[in-house]
Amino acid sequence: MSKCVLHVVGARPNFMKMAPLVRNLWASPGGYDHLLVHTGQHYDEHLNDSIFRDLGLKAPDIHLGSGSGTHAEQTSRIMLAFEKLVAERAPSLVVVAGDVNSTLACSVVAAKANVPVAHLEAGLRSGDWTMPEEINRIVTDRLTRLYLTPSPDADENLLREGVDPARIARVGNCMIDSLVTHVSAARSGGALARFGVEPRGFALATLHRPSNVDDPARLQKLVDVLSNIGARLPIVFPVHPRTRARMQAASISLEALAQRGLFVSEPLGYLDFLQLEDAAAVVMTDSGGVQEETTALGVPCLTVRDNTERPITITDGTNKLVGSNPDVLPAEVAAVLAGQARRGKVPDLWDGKAGQRAADAIRSFLS
Ligand code: UD1
Ligand code: UDP
Repeated sequence: MSKCVLHVVGARPNFMKMAPLVRNLWASPGGYDHLLVHTGQHYDEHLNDSIFRDLGLKAPDIHLGSGSGTHAEQTSRIMLAFEKLVAERAPSLVVVAGDVNSTLACSVVAAKANVPVAHLEAGLRSGDWTMPEEINRIVTDRLTRLYLTPSPDADENLLREGVDPARIARVGNCMIDSLVTHVSAARSGGALARFGVEPRGFALATLHRPSNVDDPARLQKLVDVLSNIGARLPIVFPVHPRTRARMQAASISLEALAQRGLFVSEPLGYLDFLQLEDAAAVVMTDSGGVQEETTALGVPCLTVRDNTERPITITDGTNKLVGSNPDVLPAEVAAVLAGQARRGKVPDLWDGKAGQRAADAIRSFLS
């Protein structure tokens, strides 16, 4: 069997991060088969197929079909399937991305099989252990051999935790590579017309963090505040399946929201979402990737969280942490509309070439 590297994806944000890296390695494989492995964590048309299509990414070489469940159910199902695959293929390296359960599951399996792990987007820390993603990041980085980092803060976190500097390659932000590749196609898309909104004449909102959507009272409060803002400024609100399920459970009617200035939709395709993100007057979110993309696009972002693992979007970019109390949002949105948002700059190495640098680091590690 030929020598191979397994590149793991599972959830929506993994696809944008991994696409630029695997494309580069497929073009110049350095003597290895580079196989794309999908754990099956996300599987809906809206979270999965449409994103693969928009990224122009070929179907995964291997699909583990793990699906949803509690943290333990999902993580253990991925581990069982991935362990078999690792035993069959004996990979020379496993590459994981970001901070989702698929990342954790596959890095634990690889490390126990003595297969080195490369972590794309290593070193980010929110300092908030109540976030499942923080646990995933920290465990993955304890097991990682090659750290592919997006920003200096990530390097500093790893060095503080005792990581050997020789194992860190600051490659930049792969998710922004995908943005750079696709933004012009996105700009000529039809999402603005479909929602009937004008550039800078609307806001875009996404919410899916358990801390915001899993508590019914908090979710109700958030949608009430969004509706109040929506009465003055139209808001496009693509609803994540976790959020949709919680809204249904809390008897929050999507139809009622639609009558209060919120354009509620299924999760959008990547190109549609990018077009709206680029043209929005302001974005309200709890997403990690959206904090970064708004900084890359120079669009004001209000992050509805108490902390962020992406502080560079605040120090350099257009992001503002507004905290977890939704009551502050109307005044924050008004301030942005009054021209008080940070202008920001695009961080170093968020230049569309991170995938190339990450591929170089991997080829050099393998040789
Ligand atoms: C996951 C990641 C989160 C990431 C987000 C990106 C973890 C712990 N969380 O959160 O870090 O920001 O993806 O979107 O890995 N569901 C569907 N269809 C799907 C997938 C999920 O309906 O294709 C529903 C299921 O009811 C599922 C729930 O959404 O139980 C949550 O899915 P899951 O993948 O566990 O976590 P996310 O909230 O999507
Ligand atoms: N995104 C998308 N459609 C949507 C919402 C987001 O394509 O309706 C994209 C967004 O452009 C970014 C990524 O999804 O590239 C962010 O993923 P998500 O918010 O699900 O996860 P996080 O980054 O918080 O882990």
